[in-house]
Amino acid sequence: MLEPKPALSFHAGQFIELTAPGVGEAPFTPSSSPYVEESMEVTIMKVGRVTSKLFDVRPGDTLAVRGPYGVPYETDRYEGRHVLIVGGGVGLAPLRSLFLALLHNVSAYKKIHLYYGARTPKDIVYDRLFKEWGKIKNVEIRRSVDVGDKNWKEKVGVVTVLLDNLPFKPKDGLAVACGPPVMMKFVTKRLLELGFADEDIYLSMEKNMSCGFGKCGHCRLGELFCCKDGPVITWDRIKHLEDPFV
Ligand SMILES: Cc1cc2nc3c(=O)[nH]c(=O)nc-3n(C[C@H](O)[C@H](O)[C@H](O)COP(=O)(O)OP(=O)(O)OC[C@H]3O[C@@H](n4cnc5c(N)ncnc54)[C@H](O)[C@@H]3O)c2cc1C
Ligand code: FES
Repeated sequence: MLEPKPALSFHAGQFIELTAPGVGEAPFTPSSSPYVEESMEVTIMKVGRVTSKLFDVRPGDTLAVRGPYGVPYETDRYEGRHVLIVGGGVGLAPLRSLFLALLHNVSAYKKIHLYYGARTPKDIVYDRLFKEWGKIKNVEIRRSVDVGDKNWKEKVGVVTVLLDNLPFKPKDGLAVACGPPVMMKFVTKRLLELGFADEDIYLSMEKNMSCGFGKCGHCRLGELFCCKDGPVITWDRIKHLEDPFV
């Protein structure tokens, strides 16, 4: 939990650059509601130098944060439609911010469908929160794990199994996905097979970043810069690339 001074407001879909003291900085997408201005939650997976150092941070420590950067989700385009959110692994963290933003005005959407896949039941992020979210009217939740255990009663299989028997027609909705590159690739393929329009598939494209605002060129994706034109980019803008998910 960060408490930026002065308060730092953001829109769902934007990211920040957070500094691990003495090591460097890395981009993270807030996982809390953009409607809460005085604090900001970030869910971090420990993978390397910066993220490991951030795990040593204790309550009350001071960190440098800059941003927000990037383009927000176009949530006004979602009104009156079904919103399908598909998350894989810790990719649910940035989607949580979108989900909470949509809940703020939940009746504006036909229904919010939150579909989530993890490797095993113990890898599920926000497991406790799913129980609360499942009780909200206008929200449908589906979950799968690649490998279940004796207590797992929900779906078993990769996240695309959740896209079978969709409870709405793809032309009445749009899809938003975030997760590991291979998951994004297969989710996009399945969404297209189901009939979602290219411009209605929103993908969180996480390329290596440095400056965060379109100057260094580290995050180039074809003719786009992920930091400035994304990180959320619709399929119609990248479908011509040989493999946008590498
Ligand atoms: C726009 C954007 C938003 C992001 N939001 C989040 C977020 O909310 N939470 C979060 O935990 N991460 C998020 N990331 C990823 C995060 O920035 C990286 O995990 C971080 O930069 C890794 O830095 P490091 O110094 O710890 O690891 P490094 O030392 O740079 O990398 C160590 C090893 O981990 C691998 N690695 C790097 N990133 C990842 C990854 N994401 N998954 C698996 N392996 C990886 C590298 O290939 C390398 O082998 C986001 C990235 C982008 C571009
Ligand atoms: S991170 Fe520098 S141009 Fe995108």
